[in-house]
Amino acid sequence: MDKKATDITCAKYPINLRRVRKNKKIRDLFSSTFIPTSALIQPYFVYEGLDHPEELKSIAGQKKHNIKSVIKEIEFALTKNISSFLLFIIPEKKIISINVNDFNFDFDCEVISKIKNIFKDEIILFTDVCLCSHTANGHCEVNANNDLTIDILTKKAVLHASAGTDVVSPSDMMDGRIKSIRIALNQNSMNDRLIMSYSSKFSSNFYGPFRAAAESTPAFGDRKSYQLDPRNIGDAIRSSMRDIDDGADILMVKPAAQYLDIIYRIKNHNNKSKDFPLAAYQVSGEYQALHLMAAANLLKFEDAYIESLISIKRAGADLIITYGATRYQEHL
Ligand code: PBG
Repeated sequence: MDKKATDITCAKYPINLRRVRKNKKIRDLFSSTFIPTSALIQPYFVYEGLDHPEELKSIAGQKKHNIKSVIKEIEFALTKNISSFLLFIIPEKKIISINVNDFNFDFDCEVISKIKNIFKDEIILFTDVCLCSHTANGHCEVNANNDLTIDILTKKAVLHASAGTDVVSPSDMMDGRIKSIRIALNQNSMNDRLIMSYSSKFSSNFYGPFRAAAESTPAFGDRKSYQLDPRNIGDAIRSSMRDIDDGADILMVKPAAQYLDIIYRIKNHNNKSKDFPLAAYQVSGEYQALHLMAAANLLKFEDAYIESLISIKRAGADLIITYGATRYQEHL
């Protein structure tokens, strides 16, 4: 062998990991994490009795919508290739009663049917099924009674589906609600409707901006007896596996950034969970934190936002619920 050539080859350590980082084209060639717009779900807040849409101060770029303005917003989103929406519908009247029949979902049904009649199968409509925007005390559970709450939630889910919801999305965390909702949907000839279960929704500090928006801050106590404890990994796994068996179509981990390990664990728990659709909810506090840092010139929002979504996807989420979905493409 040519001695000189050998000397040259051995002059530097032969493995150079920086080769794959050399320039943008090469970095793109080796990137392995992609998020299509079809994997993003945009939440909207729709309020009863609202004459004009208003800025939502607690979550940057979000609005308090009425029916007319949310329809406009959906038209805009479609031009950005976003066609999945998660609606939080906020009634004017708050309820003290513990009677199932006193809970009225007429406004919910009006919003859902008006939207679905316009957009039909051009959009996938997810609607939140919880009671915290209805109850006067802001709790998701009525009268500290799990099963009574399930009855009301099941009624809400069936009414939503009848009005046109494609994916009912219970965020309440009552135990056993997925099975009850699945059975009721099927009994009402709606076995084609999907359920996105908030299967591992943690009792988190990062929901603050949302609660201000959804008028759902608990008047007393907390949600720790129904939402998961951040320290309990096993509960997240068991709750997810149980909801698969109970008839959920999509599981969810919420929040996302603080629970990336949970996303990874659920995706890799066993064959059943590996192939099961998993959503992650980048919650209001995660999203708003990026905006606040950007406002203080500590980072560039667009870049930090894309990084935050990539990390959620890399952990194993198939779908991401994020307040910035409609701006994703322009931030890329
Ligand atoms: C209510 C609900 C919450 C969120 C979604 N549904 C708040 C809570 O449980 O207190 C949080 C969403 C967010 O922070 O973006 N059941």
